[in-house]
Amino acid sequence: MTRGKMDPGPNPFCYRDGILTCEDVAADVIAEAVGTPCYIYAGNEITRNLKAYQDAFRDLPHLVCYALKANPSLAILSHLVRRGAGFDAVSGGEIAKALAAGADPARIVFAGVGKTGEEMHAALVAGIRQFNVESVPELKALDDIACSLGMVAPVALRVNPDVRAQTHRKITTGMAENKFGIDFANILEVWRMAGEMAHIRTQGLALHIGSQILSLEPYRAAFNRTAELVSNLRKQGETVESLDIGGGIGIAYQHEAGLPPAIADFARLVGETLGDLDCELIIEPGRSMIGPAGILIATVLYVKETADRRFLILDAALNDLLRPAMYDAWHDLIPFREADPESRWTPHDVVGPICESSDTFARDRLLPSLSAGDRVAFLHAGAYGASMASEYNCRPLVPEVMVSGDRFSQIRSRPTIEDMIKRESIPDWLSQDPDDPNEEP
Ligand code: LLP
Repeated sequence: MTRGKMDPGPNPFCYRDGILTCEDVAADVIAEAVGTPCYIYAGNEITRNLKAYQDAFRDLPHLVCYALKANPSLAILSHLVRRGAGFDAVSGGEIAKALAAGADPARIVFAGVGKTGEEMHAALVAGIRQFNVESVPELKALDDIACSLGMVAPVALRVNPDVRAQTHRKITTGMAENKFGIDFANILEVWRMAGEMAHIRTQGLALHIGSQILSLEPYRAAFNRTAELVSNLRKQGETVESLDIGGGIGIAYQHEAGLPPAIADFARLVGETLGDLDCELIIEPGRSMIGPAGILIATVLYVKETADRRFLILDAALNDLLRPAMYDAWHDLIPFREADPESRWTPHDVVGPICESSDTFARDRLLPSLSAGDRVAFLHAGAYGASMASEYNCRPLVPEVMVSGDRFSQIRSRPTIEDMIKRESIPDWLSQDPDDPNEEP
């Protein structure tokens, strides 16, 4: 059992006079205006995180491509476009959103094992920077589509370096058993094959070994293997101009579980292992850019005591924040009112209203005494929170708010139940004669 606490050091979410604030706005003001559950993002923290990558890689030719999957909010994308970010997209929808936010197509990379023909077509027409290709059939499909358009597709081959990432098994991506990338041993052959395709231009390699990695060692192993591969390719006379090194480092969800390395140390490792190769580097951080910049706020509905447990029942549920149910992930939980130093902290099971036992955010979480109507916030919820939300149990999609200094704006509204019903339709025949011959009695 661990007592939830705030990060030390600069934090956009902190208590001022005992009241939780986001930058210069009291969280209560947002809760009153928008209701709960609701995500709140601190714009200045997003800026700081992007700048941390841009500064750390300053001495290497690089482009920071924010991974939209972590949070594809239009407002966040627009915030990043204005500060020079590129984008890592994994679907036609993500590319369209980046473009809608004003992104330069020449700063968009397109990854994923299952790009459809339509998505590849649209991305070619848009003029994106590169397709990270993950298999030979995909390469052939891309060559055909580029041919039909009279274009040449810029490609990086995604290599599977077969490295254990030391993270949750569901977010490990760089092992031979994972569906991602082309086998390390086959890259040379595939590169040659691509060289014979008239509508493919292979400009580099890409890799990604997993997410929420707290140690530099798996990166070191993967980058060393990649450096070896680049030398081999060059020895065979191939030209390798760029290296996409995948996502960013993990974040400190729970101090007891370990702290991530500094971004500067990660950049130093990249410099040591790949810096001499004279390649342009692409880094695709998602979590570390937006995770610490977001919270999910919720209201306590009931405190339910049973023979041996105390349940804190919130109005937020797994459809709003899936990570605890899906990955047993830890998110610190803090009350809007700072706990009295004298208050007794007792274990609570923190749950939502969804009809599944997996709708549990935390078990035995030490919390001060809370009552119905009190508000709480899950920290580090900016990444893979709203982006993985759903309408399970017919719960409206959670709204989002962005703060900048003393301003805030709702950047995605909460749909009404009527909006949700309006999207659906009932087939005509269901309102017709029940003796319809097409229907079984
Ligand atoms: N690039 C590629 C090719 C990726 O697959 C990913 C994440 C990233 C970049 C961004 O990685 P990051 O900097 O965020 O670690 N839903 C899970 C995380 C899934 C990550 C999938 N790939 C979670 O909530 O923990």
